[in-house]
Order: sequence, then C-alpha cells, then structure tokens
Amino acid sequence: MKQRNSLYLFGITLVATLGGLLFGYDTAVISGAEKSIQAYLINGLGLNSWIHGATVSSALLGCIIGGSISGWIASGIGRKKALFIAALLFFLTALGSGNPEFLFFTKGHASIGVLLMFNFYRILGGIGVGLASAVCPMYISEIAPADIRGKLVSINQFAIVFGILVVYFINWGIAKGQSLEWINSTGWRWMFISGSVPAGIFAILLFFVPETPRYLALRGREAEALNVLKKINGPEHAREILKEIELTVEKSSGKLFDYGRTIIIIGILLAVFQQFVGINVAMYYAPRIFESMGAAKDASMLQSVVMGIVNSIFTVIAILTVDKWGRKPLLYMGSVGMAIGMFAIGILAFFKIIGILTLVFIIIYTASFTMSWGPVCWVLISEIFPNKIRGKAVAIAVAAMWAANFLVSSTYPAMMEISSGGTYCVYGIMSLLSFIFVWKMIPETKNKTLEEIETLWKKR
Ligand code: BGC
Repeated sequence: MKQRNSLYLFGITLVATLGGLLFGYDTAVISGAEKSIQAYLINGLGLNSWIHGATVSSALLGCIIGGSISGWIASGIGRKKALFIAALLFFLTALGSGNPEFLFFTKGHASIGVLLMFNFYRILGGIGVGLASAVCPMYISEIAPADIRGKLVSINQFAIVFGILVVYFINWGIAKGQSLEWINSTGWRWMFISGSVPAGIFAILLFFVPETPRYLALRGREAEALNVLKKINGPEHAREILKEIELTVEKSSGKLFDYGRTIIIIGILLAVFQQFVGINVAMYYAPRIFESMGAAKDASMLQSVVMGIVNSIFTVIAILTVDKWGRKPLLYMGSVGMAIGMFAIGILAFFKIIGILTLVFIIIYTASFTMSWGPVCWVLISEIFPNKIRGKAVAIAVAAMWAANFLVSSTYPAMMEISSGGTYCVYGIMSLLSFIFVWKMIPETKNKTLEEIETLWKKR
C-alpha cells in the first residue's frame, strides 16, 4: 500500500476526467448559442419551433448512439483508444458546429443544407459525449486501487459540472459588450469552436496515459498489465492484484447474462433513476424558474454562479466521503433530499407561489443530487459489473441513461402544461422510489476490489 504512486495515479485520473469536462462543456455550450441558431437557421428559413427544439436537443440522439456503441469500442480496441476517439469527436464537433457551412455552403447563407450539417456535427459531438460518459468512469475504475476508487471516479462528476460552469463563462465572455448582430453572425461560432482547445489537450494528453490493467489482462497481455499495476500500486501489491484479475478472466465466457439478468437490470435502473429524478429539468430550466421569480435576464449570470458553487461544493463532499461512508448512505441522503426539494417545489407551484422559497428548494434539490446520485451513480455503474462483461453492460446502462434523459427533457414542457405542481411531484415520487431501489437492490461496494465485487453476483 505504501508503495503506491499517488502522483502518477492522480495525473492519469485527471487526464481521463478531461472527458468528463468535455461531457459538461458540450452539453451546455448550446445554451449560449441557441438563440443565434434560432435567428440564423430557424427564423431565417421560416421554420417552426418544433425544428428549433429538435436542433437544440439533437446532440442527445448522438449521446444515445455513443453510449450504445461504447461497449463494442471499449472491449474491441481498448479503453484508452476509445477515449481517444471521443477526443477526436469532441474536436470535430467544435470546429464543425462553429462552421457548419464548411466545404459545401457559403458562410452566413442559411439553407436546409447548413441546418442539416449543423445537426450532423452536433450529433457527432453527442456520440463523443455518450462514449466518454461510459468510458471515462470505466477507465478510472479499472486503474484505481479499491480504497480510493469511489473518490477518483467522483472526480469525473466534478469535471462534468466544472465543464458546464466553464462553458458558461466562455459564452458570457464571448458575448459580453458585443452587438446582437455580431453574436448572431459570428459570436455563436466561437462558442462552439472554443471547445476544440480542451478537446485538443485531451487528445494529446491521452498519449501519456496507460491502457487499464483489467483490459490488458482480458486480452492476455499480462506482462503489460503487471507493468501498469506496478507503476500504480508498487511491485509487491501488483502481483496479488493481477492474480485476482486473472482468476475472473478465466471464470467467465464473457456472455452478457453470464452473471444473471439481475445485475444488468440493476445497471439500467441505476441509470434510469439518475434521470427520472429530474436533474436535467432543474439544470436546463433553472433559468426560466429564476426568470419567472422576477429575476432580470442578466441575473442569469448570478444564477449560474450560484448553481456552479452549489454543484462544486456538494460534489466535493461526495468525493471526500464516498469511500468512507460508502455508496449507499450517500444515495439514501440524496434520495431523501431530492424528494423534499421536488415535493416542496411542487406544492409551491400548485399554490402559484414563486419566490425565494422556490430558489431555496431548487438549491436543496440540486445539492442533494450533486452529493449523491450525480457522482455515485457513475461510481456504481463503473464498478458493479464483472470484468468480462463490463464493456457491454456499462454500454447498456449508459445508453438507457441517455434515453431516459431524452424522455424526461422532452416530456417536461407538455407535462408542465397539464400541471406544473404535478410535474415536480412526479420527480419527487421518483426520488422516493430511487430510495427503495437502493435499499432493496444495491450492494455496498466500498473498499472491495472489482474482483471481490464480482463474487456478489451468482455465476450461472
Ligand atoms: C448526469 C447528467 C447531468 C450532470 C450534471 C451527471 O451525472 O448524468 O445528466 O446533467 O450530472 O448535473
């Protein structure tokens, strides 16, 4: 244990979390550019708000695709190369979304072709996000020593919310003091193009990180696996870990249901609950809630700073406690806090009371998510599956997560038209159900090696 090379371990973890940062960056960049896209490509072509909505959320389609194919890529060519592909996609989407006219069309001349190309690049970026969202936690989980695995995977969630905050400031910096005309013709392009910088850095730094020892062992490359384990854990400990990994490799044929159906269902439910509690409704629609509370439009800056600070502080709480208290206590606390927040917002909406209290409960809700289901869901998804089926099983869970995200975000406006109070109460009920799910179905994985966790699942 003493011989662990913490600096090296932390360094490679940080490189992998750049994928998380780009996940946040690419999902949030559209919020700053969306109005210009509307002016240029939607109103400019006389298209309706339905096409506007589809264009704003087209990246989510890519996320579902990226999640789905992540298992095939990560199991086929490895975790590290999968991350590299994600980095390239991030780079391409940044340049392409900012210059959708490139090669085929005239810059600044709206046409259906330009709109299609814009959506094409956004979907490409979505594939990168979907891929990174599955492979970054998997990569970290597979290199991490058991006693700090939760902490290291949770840093990825910090990177996601940090990416969201960074892109907000970049969008704000680009638009600040500029005319609407300039923002609508040029500014929005720079918002997307700015993403090529972190994407390029991510791609370059990936050359300096190793493939994970679990993947190498799966491929029969034991000598290389041992080398990586030695670098991270020290020579003595490395052999023990490798032996444990090798045993799990021999034990299974690698078929998806080799360890039963329950584990696959648990993975899917974890992912679906993380979305059904309504986090992205709170994230995407918080500005509207702030506005409807009477905050002026430029108060959105303040709101993003407030949310950014809440997200950062409470993710750090999870990072510091997930390996000490365990995964389940954090999830319990989060489910209860989210239920309180959502029911309170629902009741306030029902009585048409909008004010500082709404804000307080949004913060309680968001803080509860950020210290629990935000990071811990990813920790569990990356660690509960046995070595031999991890690639495929993570892909299924992550694809389900993005599909659930799409379902929640796309049904929210219609649900709100029926009943705003009722809508928030639905998310409150989901939070309560998530509590029962954790209680009945999730095993505690704190301090166990990935190989010890495998023994929790009955082999067929
Ligand atoms: C979730 C995302 C969410 C993000 C920021 C992630 O853990 O999967 O859906 O947008 O956290 O809160």
